[in-house]
Amino acid sequence: MPSVLPRIAAALESTLAFLTDPEFEALLDDPEINNFALGNPQELPLPELVGALQQALEPRDKNWFAYKMNEESSRRTIAESIGPRLGVPFAPEDVFVTNGGFGAIAATLRAVAGPGDEVIFISPPWFFYEPLIVAVGAEPVRVRLQPPAFDLDAEAIAAAITPRTAAVLINTPHNPTGRVYPTQQLEELARVLTEASDRHGRPVYLLSDEPYHRIVYDDLRFTTPAALYPPTFVLYSYGKTLLSPGMRMGYIAMAPGMPGAKQLRGLLFLGQVTTGWAFANADLQHALPRIEQLSIDVGALQRRRDRVIPALLEMGYQTDLPEGTFYAMVRSPLEDDQEFSRVLRRHGTLVLPGSVVELPGWFRISLTANDEMIEPGLEGFRRALSEVAARA
Ligand SMILES: Cc1ncc(COP(=O)(O)O)c(C=O)c1O
Repeated sequence: MPSVLPRIAAALESTLAFLTDPEFEALLDDPEINNFALGNPQELPLPELVGALQQALEPRDKNWFAYKMNEESSRRTIAESIGPRLGVPFAPEDVFVTNGGFGAIAATLRAVAGPGDEVIFISPPWFFYEPLIVAVGAEPVRVRLQPPAFDLDAEAIAAAITPRTAAVLINTPHNPTGRVYPTQQLEELARVLTEASDRHGRPVYLLSDEPYHRIVYDDLRFTTPAALYPPTFVLYSYGKTLLSPGMRMGYIAMAPGMPGAKQLRGLLFLGQVTTGWAFANADLQHALPRIEQLSIDVGALQRRRDRVIPALLEMGYQTDLPEGTFYAMVRSPLEDDQEFSRVLRRHGTLVLPGSVVELPGWFRISLTANDEMIEPGLEGFRRALSEVAARA
């Protein structure tokens, strides 16, 4: 048995148990079910995306579907678009076009960490950070955020850093809490990482997982740590902005001033190759100039948030308005979040139990539930709360 896979299986156990539960899977297509559980589309894809893909499928030369890597035109399109958006002048040669955020994270981890290294990640985490760190042979080290604010805690990260720390992996806007870290917290982090890098004589790289950086509410200004800390890799997926996660495209963007940039360019490329050709497909790269301009309707998501969260608060749930992402965390009225999720399920509303994302006693909702699901879904939340109140 390959040594790393049993550890990966252990790290993924609760996630896989939840996602592959036949009862849960059967409910996903049940028209009576209001799905607030996952960030999966509950509506047809953007027609503009479909049009761009249809056009990209028409071959214009013999190389149209030849092997694609980090194509020059794709790198330029991305660098020119994200430079002004993020306020960071990324060079096209520092952009790597991946098969989604998964590929971006996996290839970057492979480039900066290996056996003997530690990689710090933040909990509650996205399900796959720990397995992806284990997969490169490094040791995952978690730093927990404190509810209910879930602020980025630079001091707690500082305390977790050792001479073996190769990288810190953060996620803003944050899945599952919906927090968008303020500039001041990121500046604190940059200070802590600079000090640790100087102390240990090696750069502590920052992996900034930002697939939701275009999904922020209330005109909040998103700050990427790449603007504050040069040893930063921005990791992105188009799957969220387009709400089409089966279309696998994303990127790695290395911040200007990255130490050892020349060597890292080669390592990132090898990281892509050896994680199984982690480049975006030819058709997606052909469609990229149009795709880069597209986004789901963030205003509509915000209106949904502004209906759902105040309604939950009014019922007596404890939660907060997310600043970005599709997600919000809600405190479970029962200590056992799995049990409360089952109560909600019986009332037609699907959520993600907090224990699946290392936050027992909470549950996560996703605002990707479509408009038709919102009012019946809220009714489910109301009835579930009444049921457990009556039990008490
Ligand atoms: C925080 C975070 N990072 C990375 C990913 C991976 O994105 P993709 O599946 O588009 O590669 C996700 C997907 O849910 C996510 O929520």
